[in-house]
Amino acid sequence: MREEIKVVHVGLGPLGSRIARHILNERTGIGYVGAIDILPEIVGKDLGEVIGAGRKLGIKVSDEPKKLFEETKPDIAVYTTTPFLKDILPQIEPAIKSGVNVISTCEQLAFPYFRDKKLTKKYDELARKNKVTVLGTGINPGFLMDVRPTILSAACTEVKRIEVIRRMDASPRRKPFQKKIGVSMKPEEFKKALKEGKITGHVGLEESICLIADALDWELDVVRVEEVEPVIAEEEVSSQFYTAKRGQVKGTKQEAYGIVNGEERIHLFFTAFLGATPSFDEVRIEGTPEIEAKVSPCWHGDDGTVAMVVNLIPVVINSPPGILTMNDIVPISFKSGDMRRFVK
Ligand SMILES: NC(=O)c1ccc[n+]([C@@H]2O[C@H](COP(=O)([O-])OP(=O)(O)OC[C@H]3O[C@@H](n4cnc5c(N)ncnc54)[C@H](OP(=O)(O)O)[C@@H]3O)[C@@H](O)[C@H]2O)c1
Repeated sequence: MREEIKVVHVGLGPLGSRIARHILNERTGIGYVGAIDILPEIVGKDLGEVIGAGRKLGIKVSDEPKKLFEETKPDIAVYTTTPFLKDILPQIEPAIKSGVNVISTCEQLAFPYFRDKKLTKKYDELARKNKVTVLGTGINPGFLMDVRPTILSAACTEVKRIEVIRRMDASPRRKPFQKKIGVSMKPEEFKKALKEGKITGHVGLEESICLIADALDWELDVVRVEEVEPVIAEEEVSSQFYTAKRGQVKGTKQEAYGIVNGEERIHLFFTAFLGATPSFDEVRIEGTPEIEAKVSPCWHGDDGTVAMVVNLIPVVINSPPGILTMNDIVPISFKSGDMRRFVK
């Protein structure tokens, strides 16, 4: 058997720490050789201490990616730093140039061609030149509102329309998630914070629509995303981190559509708020057969993301170089139109 899979973790916030604790405490044949963050308070500290592993690991958190990659030569770097493509691409450059594969929870990296085709192509070339694989994944985007319906469509002989509904109880989610959906804000504060980019709501509905359309080879005329709307508390509701009093924001709802040949063929409906009951993840496919696949209660977004990232580490290491999407990793779906288009 090969030697242990060597990992460097970049971005030790709540999600990164959770992934690191999971790898260290629950997996074998994989381990850390380094860690990176930019927060001055944690740089130089022991990784075990920073992630709350309950023990020291003898690995100091660094803020010098290039140096660390060259010294430790990991198989893969796990990036949990940002939802935005414009930020993640320069961040992963030192890993790519050092020949290190990358897996990231960056939502906009899940289908980077949507935000910036030219820049994505440039990084794809860089990745190929350095023989490394780069993948953006997670629970959503990465599975629930894109890969899951796509896989289900593979067992259909016809697909006319796909609808995905995620109704999530946000109470058990990590603090940054509850913050980004505006929990405990007054409605006017919520609108202002959204406008100023201080909160974002869920990021990635556009990428999920593109992933579905790309898998089925539906040519999108438009990806339309409605404004993020607040869900207002009718009575006080609390989580470990926030309390939303009556009249305050307890979460958000967002809708997005993929228009193909003038018709709405993809519809995503995302709701997340404290105390959402029932909570569920549902896929409806209009086609042959008609599909209604409901998982309830909803998938836990943080546990699901940890699982997606860790379970895909070997897959990324084994995959061909370049900037990949989940459609390269899971290439099964309903194939519309001329079948020759799917043969490379
Ligand atoms: N695809 C999915 O399904 C999915 C699911 C969950 C989360 N996510 C994404 O995963 C990311 C991590 O989540 P989180 O809640 O842990 O976020 P977070 O609290 O923002 O943590 C990010 C961490 O990365 C650090 N960082 C930022 N830029 C860096 C850089 N250039 N180099 C090294 N470290 C850097 C941050 O430091 P500072 O605090 O100093 O900025 C912080 O410690 C988020 O972007 C989130 O949107 C995706």
